[in-house]
Amino acid sequence: MRDQLEEFARTPAFDQIKKEPQEIEDYFWEVIYEREKNPKDELLDVLISAWRNKQITDLELLGYIWGTFSAGTDTTGVNIVNTFSLLGEFHLLDEARANINNNDWLQKAGEEVLRFGTPFVAGPSLAVTDVELASGLKIPAKTQVRVWFCAANRDKKVNGNNAHAADPNVFDITRWPNHHMSFGLGAHYCLGAQLARLETRILLQMALKYLPDLTFDESKPFERYAGLVDGVKQAHFSFDQQKAEQLLPELQMVGS
Ligand code: HEM
Repeated sequence: MRDQLEEFARTPAFDQIKKEPQEIEDYFWEVIYEREKNPKDELLDVLISAWRNKQITDLELLGYIWGTFSAGTDTTGVNIVNTFSLLGEFHLLDEARANINNNDWLQKAGEEVLRFGTPFVAGPSLAVTDVELASGLKIPAKTQVRVWFCAANRDKKVNGNNAHAADPNVFDITRWPNHHMSFGLGAHYCLGAQLARLETRILLQMALKYLPDLTFDESKPFERYAGLVDGVKQAHFSFDQQKAEQLLPELQMVGS
């Protein structure tokens, strides 16, 4: 599963995505039949019931499961990596530590990381009817369109015009309001947006607390890569291991 996600995230273009191997499909069918035996009240149960009622096909059921799984894993993972890398790169880890419980700071910084890093750079869309944009651009029905969220995030019309942070090409954690489109927009707005925000925030707070003196190591290579989900190939950090070990019992209590 991990290998498949890796391949998916690093695919350079949507038309090069390969179908997942049979063993993943088999695993999903196992999960589906198991869930039918022990139903809950979750998204998976809604999908299974739509499939049983013939509202969606086998392929759509598997597609939704794989889609939700892949949509929520590397995007969030990359956003977490971006959080540490960007705060490190812009020498903001001390400021982050000082604001570990400051909701306002965490929210603004979190949204700016999402905007500037834009984990899911572009989404594929299919025009179901003829569309004419406000600019006059006509998109005929059945055209495949690539919506570049990362470009919108750096567009002055979207994210300029802000008294505190006028230039959208600048990483500025005081930017507010932050009109980024990193979770898409409209009917297909990201289903997991709030979960992703929460996961990122909790991890940042935990790492800052339980990895004392966490510092970005600029003496070692820092490398990003481009893919369907852009990411960081290597970034090096250091922390005070002795102090971290003293906090281990407390951390274990949090985990249990
Ligand atoms: C930082 C993390 C995330 C980013 C940047 C992100 C980004 C996006 C974007 C841009 C879209 C819209 C795609 C489009 O319009 O073509 C989307 C849709 C979606 N996301 Fe996320 N996502 C993240 C986390 C998650 C998580 C954690 C989950 C689920 C647990 C999730 C599930 C979905 C689903 C199911 C859709 C499709 C919604 C629909 O078509 O109605 N995402 N996401």
